[in-house]
Amino acid sequence: MSLKRVLLIVGGGISAYKAPELVRALDKRGIGCRVILTQAGSQFVTPLTLASLTKDDVHQELFNLTHEAKMGHIELSRSADLVLVAPATADLIGKVAHGLANDLASTALLATDKPVLMAPAMNVRMWEHPAVQRNLATLRADGVHFIGPDEGAMACGEFGLGRMAEPEAIAAAIEVFWHKACSDKPLQGKRAIVTAGPTLEALDPIRFLSNRSSGKQGYAIAHALAEAGAEVTLVSGPTALNDVPGVSMVRVESAREMLEACQSALPVDIFVAVAAVADWRPETKAEVKLKLKGDAKAPAMTLVENPDILATIAQSGPKRPKLVIGFAAETHEVLAYATAKRTKKGCDWVVANDVSGDVMGGESNQILLVTAEGHQSWPEAPKAQIAIRLAEEISAYFKT
Ligand code: CTP
Repeated sequence: MSLKRVLLIVGGGISAYKAPELVRALDKRGIGCRVILTQAGSQFVTPLTLASLTKDDVHQELFNLTHEAKMGHIELSRSADLVLVAPATADLIGKVAHGLANDLASTALLATDKPVLMAPAMNVRMWEHPAVQRNLATLRADGVHFIGPDEGAMACGEFGLGRMAEPEAIAAAIEVFWHKACSDKPLQGKRAIVTAGPTLEALDPIRFLSNRSSGKQGYAIAHALAEAGAEVTLVSGPTALNDVPGVSMVRVESAREMLEACQSALPVDIFVAVAAVADWRPETKAEVKLKLKGDAKAPAMTLVENPDILATIAQSGPKRPKLVIGFAAETHEVLAYATAKRTKKGCDWVVANDVSGDVMGGESNQILLVTAEGHQSWPEAPKAQIAIRLAEEISAYFKT
């Protein structure tokens, strides 16, 4: 995927005078720019210069009715493939590090879901100040990337680290970053559905049948696939976990709702059924709370079988995902049961785990991956590691 458009945020430093040159260096490489110019930035470069070079509006205010009507600030923050802050002043760096959003630039930086690259520029003493260094460390930990600053003579007459990198160098660094980001994303262009968590089968408005699945393994797999570049829908039963960033979340309760959500998200290339789906549900759900006490004998409950989501998707004809992966939770004879499950359900791979210990709700897992070719045994590892390894196996499958 080629880099098509950058959202350039021009902060208020003397190096803002290099912004037009930066726009041209990007343009030379076929990369378009949409510009946010801060109030302070406009003291050093005019909006007219940048608008003429980008042939587009220059966005300056958070509360601008005309711009907001054409493109809201949230949309603006996501309208490009990446966000470049040049110059990134101590003020802008500090605001983002502390999650402040009191103008268009800082709001866009908080709202974006795209990679952020910053080209810092400031006086050497400011650059070396512990407060700035703390903020930089925070941003690095948050995944922000930096280009420069360079060492050299400064507009203020001092010498040292703090000059903004040259426009050509920034444009070249962006190209390298993008190339690397794309090659690190082997599942770019692939779509995936992951099911996770338990299902909850209601008996009446307050009682239900369910199980102890925490959803951790499924959420970790959704995250790992998204990190590998796939467009992921996570269909989750009730869990205590937060939404996974960068993943479309669909929260459901029952097995039937889970199946419907999966079917609506088709077609996909990859289907991973991690959910601990309740095999049975009460035949009817009472509209009001059932009164179960008082009778001499225990109340009877009629159960009916739930649809098998994995088997239904694995046998969905032309809509069948290319790679269908099921999980098998077993307490004994793991390989034999997992192998039988693979054939019975019609899936390509079965990820079998031994749940005789405290896997359900626990942090780690031990896996046996069963495919048509045979099986691999993976050493016990945290669920996030298992997820990354599975995403790697999936990437390798699509590579060949
Ligand atoms: N699964 C599903 N829908 C169901 C039951 C299970 O999609 N109604 C999926 C699970 O998400 C998992 C796989 O099927 O990927 C295996 O589930 P498991 O509970 O281990 O096996 P069962 O099919 O329920 O068989 P058994 O309980 O006999 O082991």
